[in-house]
Amino acid sequence: MLAWCSALALAFCVAATAAQNGAEADLVTSLPGLSETPTFQHYSGYLQAGSGKYFHYWFVESQNNPSTDPFILWLNGGPGCSSLEGMLSENGPFHLHDDATVYLNPYSWNLVANVLYLESPAGVGFSYSTTGNYSTSDPQVAEDNYNALLDFFNKFPSFASNNFYIFAESYGGVYGPSLAQYIISNSANINLKGVGVGNGMTNYALNDQSLIYFGYYHGLFSESLWNQMNQACCSGGSCNFYSNSDSNCMNAVYQALYVIQDIGLNIYNLYGQCYGGAPMNGRYAADVANLFRDSGFTFQPQIEAAIPGVPMCINGTAMYEWLNNPEVRSALHIPTSVQSWELCSHTVGTLYQRTYTDMTSFYQSLLQKNLQLLVYNGDVDMACNFLGAKWFVDSLNLQALTQYGPWYFEDQIAGYVQQYKNLTLLTVKGAGHMVPEYKPGPALQLLKNYLANSY
Ligand SMILES: *[C@@H]1O[C@H](CO)[C@@H](O)[C@H](O)[C@H]1NC(C)=O
Ligand SMILES: *[C@@H]1O[C@H](CO)[C@@H](O)[C@H](O)[C@H]1NC(C)=O
Ligand SMILES: *[C@@H]1O[C@H](CO)[C@@H](O)[C@H](O)[C@H]1NC(C)=O
Repeated sequence: MLAWCSALALAFCVAATAAQNGAEADLVTSLPGLSETPTFQHYSGYLQAGSGKYFHYWFVESQNNPSTDPFILWLNGGPGCSSLEGMLSENGPFHLHDDATVYLNPYSWNLVANVLYLESPAGVGFSYSTTGNYSTSDPQVAEDNYNALLDFFNKFPSFASNNFYIFAESYGGVYGPSLAQYIISNSANINLKGVGVGNGMTNYALNDQSLIYFGYYHGLFSESLWNQMNQACCSGGSCNFYSNSDSNCMNAVYQALYVIQDIGLNIYNLYGQCYGGAPMNGRYAADVANLFRDSGFTFQPQIEAAIPGVPMCINGTAMYEWLNNPEVRSALHIPTSVQSWELCSHTVGTLYQRTYTDMTSFYQSLLQKNLQLLVYNGDVDMACNFLGAKWFVDSLNLQALTQYGPWYFEDQIAGYVQQYKNLTLLTVKGAGHMVPEYKPGPALQLLKNYLANSY
C-alpha cells in the first residue's frame, strides 16, 4: 500500500492514510446513473453513533482543496427526515434527472468545502439500530450525532484539523445548536467554528405567532377571518395566536392554519407548485408538521398509496426510486438487511420526543464561545417562516454591527442581511424551506459569504 502510494500523486496518499481506519472500504467508486467521473473522492458507509446505533453517512470531499477547505456537517430535519435530501435535491454534488440519471450540481457546496451528509437519528434513511428501538429525543440525538462525528474523525483523521461548521435545516434548528453545545461541553478535539441554521425550528411560539401575520400579509386570509382573529385573539394592542384560551380565537386560528396547510398550498414554498395537485385529499403524506403542536388541532395526513414518507406537495419520487435501486444501495455500501430508504421516517417522527421548544439558551451559550452563527431563511417558506426567525434573533438583544440591508448575487438583490456580534441574520428572497434547492446560486453565495464573514 505504501509503495503504491508513493508512486502516485499526493492526493491518493491521503486516501491511503485514511484506509488504515476503515475509510477505504467506504470509498464510492461508481454511481449508477452517473456517466462522468467526479474530480473529487466521496465515501458512503456507517458511523457508530452509540451502542447498536449505526448512522449512514455520505461524505464528499471538496472540489477545491480538501486538505485545507472547511469541513461542513449537513443535517436535514423532520424529525425523521433524511439528509440525503440535502445531498440529492439541495446542496450536494449529485442531483437526479427524472429518468434516474445523475448529474453534477453546478452549485454544489463541495465546490468550496468538504461536506458530510449524515442520516440521523437511527431509523432515518439507511441509518439503523440493532435493538430496533427507534424512540429518541432531542438530547439523545445531540449525543448520538456527537458520537457519529467522533467516529467520522476516527475514520478520517486528516479532516479533524479543518475548520468545522454545522449547517442544519428545519428541525435541524434543534439538532445543529444542540450538537454544537454538546461538542463544546465535551471539549473533544473538534475544531468547531460556527453553526448555520436554515429555516430552522428555533422557537415554537414565535414560529406559530409569526405565521399568522405571514399568512395575512401574503393574501391568504379574508378580511373577515383577519378581523375575527384580531377581535378574539388580541387585547390592548397585543395578540396571542398560538396559546390563547379563548375558543373563538382558536377557532379562527384553526381556519387560518387550515388555509395554510390543508387546501393545497405548498407549505414549504408559497409560490411553488404543490406536486400531486391541490387539494391534497386522499393522498399519503408524511406528518412532519411542526406548527401549533399544543393547540390540539388535528390535521391528519391521509394515508393511502404510492410513496411512503414524502411530505405533502413535495415530489420525492426520483430520490425514492434511485436510492432503493439495489445497484445504488450496493454502490453506497448499504447492507441488504437495512430497510428501504424513505425521505421521512414515520416511525422516527411519531416516536420522537421533543424536548427543546425554544433554543434561546443554546444560542446564548454559543454566542459566548466566539463562534460564527448564521440564521438564514428562505422568505416564502411557511413551515419555519422568516419573520419568526427575525423575531427570535431580535429577542436575543445582540449588538448590531450593521444595518438591515440587501445582499447580492449576480447584480441582483438576493435577500437581506444584518450582522450582529457573532451572529448573522439573513434572508434569501423568493426561496422556500429548502433554500439550496429553490435558490441554488444564492445559496452557494451565502455559504461563500458566510465562510468569508463578509456579506
Ligand atoms: C415527480 O418526479 C418524477 C421523477 O423525477 C417525475 O417523473 C414526475 O413527473 C414528477 N411529478 C410531477 C407532478 O412533477
Ligand atoms: C429507547 O431509546 C431511548 C433513547 O435512547 C431510551 O430513552 C428508551 O429507554 C429506549 N427504550 C427501550 C424500550 O429500550
Ligand atoms: C465574537 O465576539 C467576540 C467579542 O465578544 C469577538 O472578539 C470575536 O471576534 C467575535 N467572533 C466572530 C466570529 O465574529
